[in-house]
Amino acid sequence: MPSFKNSAECAGWPQDVGILALEVYFPSEYVDQTELEVFDGVSQGKYTIGLGQTKMGFCSDREDINSLCLTVLSRLMERTGVGYENIGRLEVGTETIIDKSKSVKSVLMQLFEDSGNTDIEGIDTTNACYGGTAALINAINWVESSSWDGRYAVVVAGDIAVYATGAARPTGGAGAVAMLVGPHAPLIMERGVRASHMCHVYDFYKPDLSSEYPTVDGKLSIQCYLSALDACYQTFSRKCNATKEASSSPMSLEQLNALLFHSPFCKLVQKSLARLSFNDFLNTPADQVAAKYPGLEAFREKKLEDTYFDKDVEKAFMGYSLPIFQAKTKPSLLIATEVGNMYTPSVYGGLASYISCNTASSLAGKRIALFSYGSGLASTMFSLKISDDDGPDSPLSQLVSSLSNLKARLDSRKKVSPAVFAETMKLRQETHHKAPYTPVGSVDTLFPGTWYLTKVDDMHRRQYERSPLTPTLPAMEVDGAASNYLIKESTSMSTETLPQQV
Ligand code: HMG
Repeated sequence: MPSFKNSAECAGWPQDVGILALEVYFPSEYVDQTELEVFDGVSQGKYTIGLGQTKMGFCSDREDINSLCLTVLSRLMERTGVGYENIGRLEVGTETIIDKSKSVKSVLMQLFEDSGNTDIEGIDTTNACYGGTAALINAINWVESSSWDGRYAVVVAGDIAVYATGAARPTGGAGAVAMLVGPHAPLIMERGVRASHMCHVYDFYKPDLSSEYPTVDGKLSIQCYLSALDACYQTFSRKCNATKEASSSPMSLEQLNALLFHSPFCKLVQKSLARLSFNDFLNTPADQVAAKYPGLEAFREKKLEDTYFDKDVEKAFMGYSLPIFQAKTKPSLLIATEVGNMYTPSVYGGLASYISCNTASSLAGKRIALFSYGSGLASTMFSLKISDDDGPDSPLSQLVSSLSNLKARLDSRKKVSPAVFAETMKLRQETHHKAPYTPVGSVDTLFPGTWYLTKVDDMHRRQYERSPLTPTLPAMEVDGAASNYLIKESTSMSTETLPQQV
């Protein structure tokens, strides 16, 4: 395999390929997890402390996977000012399947009609929460390949995460993320270090195609998540250590400025960070353990595969890693705790949250590791290098500014009672896949510019409309942004000048 480090081999290839812009959409209504604890009759603190969740976003029958993705893609295109004709690849990652044949991507093509652009590669990708990452990898690979025609790629990840009543219900959520992918990005996908772990398990799956609800083995799903995390981190570390850029210090949490995780519930993310510090501990040469991990030497004989539910190990390393969690991971949990598990967009909601809590200058030059997990299972750890350019008009500054109102947007949602939430879940359950069907949910509560379902006809064809845009819609505020995303001569390549694959 040719090494990407070889500058001669890289000559002419697009540089710094990654995420240029990022848009997040979450529903306008939520249920409070403290109130849900009371409503469900569970002990106080079970959802809020035990799972680490504060609020859960949910959709009425007015929203489905098509509408979520229409909304987030529209907003991305409006905010960035990138014309629809400038998109050459559109990838969708989702596990919210409402049609066994017709893709969400094909539904999104409605937005491209006025531009006349139908020359757009890419289609839907599905494996539980991993589809968004598979879509992002496809998009990055396209830009870095001989197939690239100089246009941008867009990745859309969206899901509606709903569970039957019971222990899993408070771990639901809903939302979508859209990402503009291309060269000279402020968030650069680092080459050669991506680490995956994939295998066959039945931890969480959706065999009943007539229901929105998954079949879940909760405890097994946690074990699978943690074992995938161990495997990805070990491979990621090995690949990082093998690069020419590796410093004299081997990979450890110290080498990373932030660690972001797929978040089914926030407590598992904190345990995951602790798990990585346990990995570092086991990888530390014996003669350095006492100095680096005082008081933890007794855990030296423990093995990763025996400790998924070892409370002593968990407690010790949760304590040890607490300052690291607070500095490097907690800022990424804003959407995860306030919206819940968005499935495919979850880790990208973490990225948006992390960026929204920072300034461009505090982010410039940093390195972020992300862990993406989808049950079944597919998982990848990868890293993003943040551009050094934090100038006022830089893509990094624009990205940060576009996400700066995230908390205000979350705060502007409407709280509804657990009883209304339960009724809405019942309605979704009873009307899922019903045709013909006219949704009954209110459209007045939707955020401005939200696409919503108006009708399913007797041939199951779905029709959508969009709630009115208002001048205050955040997506419309960044008027001057457009010019910065127009394809510049230096970044576009005609098909004649495309580099040949080495
Ligand atoms: P449960 O029955 O609520 O579990 O199910 P529990 O009784 O063990 O309680 C959970 C925690 O709350 C425990 O903490 C309790 O001690 C604590 P822990 O011991 O684990 O640290 N607790 C309390 N804390 C404070 N005050 C209290 C209190 N009561 C209890 N009063 C489970 C939890 C996550 C299993 C369930 O919600 C579930 O099945 N969720 C769905 C599956 C899931 O999220 N799995 C996560 C990994 S798999 C994944 O991430 C993939 C996924 O996103 C799907 C995809 O890929 O598409 C889910």
